[in-house]
Amino acid sequence: MRIAQITDLHLDDFMNGHYDANVRQNLDRVLKDIKAREIKDIILTGDLCHPESFHVITDMIDSYQLSSLYLMGNHDDWNYYKDKRLFSSRGKEDGCYWFEKKGDNLYLYMDSRLHIIEDKQKEWLKLILKRETFQRVILFIHHPVLDCGGTTMDHLFPLKGREEIAEIFHETKKEVFLFCGHYHGAYEVQEKLIHQSVTPSLLVQLQEHSETTEQDTLDFAYRIIDITDSRVSSELILFKSPFS
Ligand SMILES: [Fe+2]
Repeated sequence: MRIAQITDLHLDDFMNGHYDANVRQNLDRVLKDIKAREIKDIILTGDLCHPESFHVITDMIDSYQLSSLYLMGNHDDWNYYKDKRLFSSRGKEDGCYWFEKKGDNLYLYMDSRLHIIEDKQKEWLKLILKRETFQRVILFIHHPVLDCGGTTMDHLFPLKGREEIAEIFHETKKEVFLFCGHYHGAYEVQEKLIHQSVTPSLLVQLQEHSETTEQDTLDFAYRIIDITDSRVSSELILFKSPFS
């Protein structure tokens, strides 16, 4: 299967106001490209928008007749989304996480919006990894689980307790392909059998090393992920911002 990952849109939220980017335009360019490549499925891995603008995203995606999945990021309020029809079959009272099996692949969709994986979700994760039979894990989550080289975001806004989460995956002795966002930049990191790909934001990229979070560029990207029964690969599709 082929899936396109879009992340960290921040459409109309308070972060959007700090940057000269046009997220609607960026999203439209990305969706047009996805459609032109005949990709049908997309996943948005969190930091979506101001809650009142969520319909803008879904309307745009619907207009391109794409099917979509949504994860929560640290700027998203689950209380707003959990009663919506789109989330009804996947959400739980404490968050938006679920799994599915396709052939030998175990797909995990996790909720790191609180900058931590709370006990209930952690127990659920352990149970699924123990109970299901699979050859590899494809994990979608807002936050990176592996350190990306001591970046500003690693220092300021990491996933708390991430070593423990990585260890839970290491114990499976299976390959894990992890797709995330949150760091507003492109990073590829591997630790043992975990392959972590961080996808740039649709709003703004941040400098890798700076005192506080500082703008690097308004250029943006999305990721195309190809998954078969024996192989997982991905590539970034880059876009120039008219404002950069
Ligand atoms: Fe984030």
